[in-house]
This record gives sequence, structure tokens and C-alpha cells, in this order.
Amino acid sequence: MARLTINGKTLELDVEPDTPLLWAIREQAGLTGTKYGCGIAQCGACTVHIDGEAVRSCAVPVSAAVGKKITTIEGLAAGGVPDKVQKAWVEHDVPQCGYCQTGMIMAVAALLRRKPKPTDADIDAAITNICRCGTYQQVREAIHAAAKA
Ligand code: FES
Ligand code: FES
Repeated sequence: MARLTINGKTLELDVEPDTPLLWAIREQAGLTGTKYGCGIAQCGACTVHIDGEAVRSCAVPVSAAVGKKITTIEGLAAGGVPDKVQKAWVEHDVPQCGYCQTGMIMAVAALLRRKPKPTDADIDAAITNICRCGTYQQVREAIHAAAKA
């Protein structure tokens, strides 16, 4: 068993300490907005926040998240009000198939918290998520728009 705090709720989950956090989030907590892509920390589809930092949850054991504040895409909108990144995503019509986008948004939200006005170089360094649909240009535009919001 592990006690995890996800999106402000504390849950007792039936998982081993070395289970990847992604599986606890999707299979145990039932929060399927966080996606499985590669399973080896390469694509970013599984990105969530632990204490405000973006992490690739397929490569983080549950034991590393105990006692910390986990936020998934379902918890990004505070009180149902979309985060400025989510608003910019809608306004710039970023997603294509959508599969990578929740991880992309979580990575961007963490970047903007750390660096409210990122340059293109900052974006290139921080947002290494893979999008098979090639939405990179729209992602960049939406990041700059969110930074101005
Ligand atoms: S599924 Fe975690 S980085 Fe690809
Ligand atoms: S929108 Fe399809 S993989 Fe990124």
C-alpha cells in the first residue's frame, strides 16, 4: 500500500513501492488523462508535477512520490477554471490527435512557473516532449501567448 496525495486528495493505493507512478495514477487512481507513450522517460506523454516540478511518471517509483504533492492534468485547472496554459492551448488550437498534449501542457505549466517569460531557447531546453503529429510550432506560439496572459 502507498498513501499518495493526488490533486489535493489523499488516496490509499494498493501498489508496490517500485511500481511506476504512472500506473498508480492511471490504474489505481483512475486518472487517465496522463498517458503512456514509451515507458522509458523519453516522450513526456506521462508528465505530471511532483511538488510543482515536471516529472516523467513512467520513470518515477511510487515510493519517490509518497508525502509529496502530485498534480495531474485533471488537477491543473484550479476550481474548474482552466490554467492559462490550457486557455492558450484552446485559443491556438494546438492539439492534433491529442495523445501527447496532456504531458506537453504539464511540462509547459511547470516551465512557466519557473520561468514566466521563456525565450525560444528556454523552450527548446525545457520542452523535450515528443509529438508525433508535429504540433511543435503551435506549442511554441501557445507558450508565448500563455507567458503574456
Ligand atoms: S511514457 Fe513516460 S516518458 Fe514516455
Ligand atoms: S498531438 Fe498527436 S502526438 Fe501530439
